[in-house]
Formats: sequence, structure tokens, C-alpha cells
Amino acid sequence: MTKQVGITEVVLRDGNQSLLSTRLKIEDILPIAKNLDDAGYYSIESWGGAVFDSCVRYLNEDPWERLDLFKKAMPKTKQQMLLRGQNLVGYKHYSDEIVSKFIEKSASHGIDIFRVFDALNDLRNIQHSIKEVKKNGKHAQGTIAFTISPIHTIDNWIDLSKKIEDLDSDSLCIKDMSGILSPEYAFELISKLKEEVSIPIHLHTHATTGMSNLTNIRAIDAGVDNIDTSISSMSMGYGHSATETMIYLLSEKKIDTGIDLKNLIEISSHFKKIRENYIEFEGSMKGVDLQMIINQVPGGMLSNLETQLKGLEKEHLLNDVITEIYQVRKDLGYVPLVTPASQIIGAQALSNIINEARYETLSVEIIDLALGYYGKLPGEINEGLLLKACNEKKRIFDRPADNLKETLNEYRENLKEFCKKLDIKDISFIDEQVLTFLLIPYGSEVIFKKMFS
Ligand code: CO
Repeated sequence: MTKQVGITEVVLRDGNQSLLSTRLKIEDILPIAKNLDDAGYYSIESWGGAVFDSCVRYLNEDPWERLDLFKKAMPKTKQQMLLRGQNLVGYKHYSDEIVSKFIEKSASHGIDIFRVFDALNDLRNIQHSIKEVKKNGKHAQGTIAFTISPIHTIDNWIDLSKKIEDLDSDSLCIKDMSGILSPEYAFELISKLKEEVSIPIHLHTHATTGMSNLTNIRAIDAGVDNIDTSISSMSMGYGHSATETMIYLLSEKKIDTGIDLKNLIEISSHFKKIRENYIEFEGSMKGVDLQMIINQVPGGMLSNLETQLKGLEKEHLLNDVITEIYQVRKDLGYVPLVTPASQIIGAQALSNIINEARYETLSVEIIDLALGYYGKLPGEINEGLLLKACNEKKRIFDRPADNLKETLNEYRENLKEFCKKLDIKDISFIDEQVLTFLLIPYGSEVIFKKMFS
């Protein structure tokens, strides 16, 4: 075997996020960590994205401690995280100082590969993160958030990818969070990218529409270097192609992944067993859903939406909300539906449907998105929506983070106040605590109470 393809196992982050609403507890992961470490993966995606948020808000876990435990339990394998550029793992932009500190701390707690993306594909929002990852001696993977729209063409993607390479990224990721990247489009895109960029290319796709196995294969035919998969018992549906399936298909093509299928059996049975404890967090989707091709709603977003609608006893409105998401997205210049834009657009679509009136109430976030506070929108914004948003505040055109001067020390003072109110005394206000506090303010009360009282 000569040709090689690296496998990134995503069960701990994106598999967990797409199938179990990111509720996997640390005690259900650690018993299998050694097997994961021994398997021979190129990397394990284990942190970032919704994991940080879920640890704090739902699991009463310190996300930094989770990372330390992972690093200790899996010393041989590169740990990978998903970083939302200037948003870090939060839902708004942070100042460059805070971004630098977060990356420094993530690197020192064990992250080796940082996959950095921006929901709008505005590279001004990832340039600082990439620079900082490099400064810490780690692997910076610049990312394009893939979407389909009348304004997104192959030439646009190539152009964007070249600019990502020019930022000094170590590799390029094509992030297809909705599973809408078709096999033939992937083949064409990656073939062209292979001619135009020289850094390794990594494909991230989802199984939602049923195309992922073939899309991965065609991407590999075109020369992709790495793919993302999830262990079989935590694969498909809103998630990803099964690790074992892809390894088997690749071995038939005489492509080496460095992984022995036999070593994955125990991992798969472990997750099969513990998955039973998380049934309440699973989405209702069975088999394959082609709606994604039309509406481009990513898996994680759909399962969250279902949970929200269930809470409101309005499950029957799911299809209306999905259609409305398409409209809101179009009105915002066909922004890719990925965090935080997916949440912002999802919430606005939900509000439009529940109120039975489009844009009657605008969320603070949708106003900011419309007015440039998240970055430049890919296409034209709906004029009516723009006018309405402009009534609320000023439109901006420069790099959003340039307007942010907040410092870590300001947040440290806020945290001190916060702890005083909660009568939490035994706390040293180290950087990690301040970062957790500023990233997940609405969840901090629980975590700080648990940690310090
Ligand atoms: Co994903």
C-alpha cells in the first residue's frame, strides 16, 4: 500500500454534537480513551464547538479539565478542536487579546490541531486565530464553510482557499456541515484545489443526505489527504460516515489509513452500549433526509430545533420553520448555516413562524448580523430588513474585532464581582476561569458554584 489517507475520529465532538446534542459525559468517554488512542487515527476531534458550552451548561464539567483528562488518557494521538475564529467557542466576537489568550491556553492544555472557521467565510475573522495558533507552535487548519447558493461558485471556493493558504495555514478544511456536498461536486472542487493550493486538504462532511460515503470516496479519488469519520455505532443520520466503513472501502482501493479494523470493534461496542443512556437527546430523523439538499439545514441545528419546538409543544411547525430558515438565509446574503449564524437564523425563523409575521421582532443578533458586526455577508442583504436593522444601530464595514477593546482583566474584575455575589471565596481567578466566565456567562453560575462552593 502506498497511498495514504488520514482519518480524524470525530465521535467525541461532532458525532456527539450531531447525534446526542453534545451530552456525552466524561465518565462515558474515559473508559474507552486508551482504545481510541491506540487505534492509529490521524487525529481525534474532541473539543471546541458545542462541547465547551455543553460542559458548562448541562454537564457540570469544567471544559478545561475535560481537555486535561483527554490529553492524559490519549497521549499518543493529536487532539483537535473546532474554533469559530474570532468567536472562539462562544457566539459573538471577542477582542484580539482574548482570542490570543484562549488559543494559548487551549494549546497548553493539549490541543494540537486547531480547525478555524468563520461562519461568513470572512477571512478577517480567522486571520488573528491562525496567526496565534502558529505562534504557539500548533497546526492551524484554515477552513471554508461550504454552502450551496446562487452566489457560491467553484471559482469563489478556489479563490477563498488560496487566500487561506496565504494566511500561512498548515492545511485546508472543506467543512460541509449539512452533508450537501455531492460526490461529483467534491471531485471537481478538490481536483481543482489540488492544482491551486499546496497545503494538505481535509474533508469534513455529514451523512444527513446519504451521500457521505460516496462523497468521501470521490474526494479521495481527487486527492484529498484526510477525512472525518465517526465510529460506526455513533455514525450516519445527522452524523458522519462510519469510520469502519470508510477504512474498509479504502483498503479495497489499496489506500492505507494506518488503522486496523479489529482495533475498532471494542470502541464501537462501547459507544453502542452507552448511547442507550442518551436516547432523550437523539433527534427523530430516521434513515436519510433529502430536505437538506433544498434547505441546507445542518444536522446539529435540526436536532436542536426539534428539541426547542418540543419544549413549546409546537413540533408540527418543524417544516414551516425549515422553509423559513431558507428565506431568512436568503435575506442575509446566503450566509452559510453554521454556528453562530445557524443559531441566529434559526431563532429568527422560529420567531417569524411563531409570531406569524416575518421580522416583526428582530433579535439583537440578527441586527448585528445584518449590519456587519459579525463580518461581511457573502451576498446582498434584503433591503427592507436592512432598513429595519439600521433603525436600531449603525452599520459597520471594517473588521468587527477592530472595534473591540475589551481586556481579560476587565472580565476578571467582573468575575470577582460575580463570585462575591454568589459568596464563592476559594477561587484564584486564573485565566481559564475568566475565559469560561466570559465565553458562557449564562452557565457560569452553575459551574463556579460546583467548583468553588
Ligand atoms: Co460537522
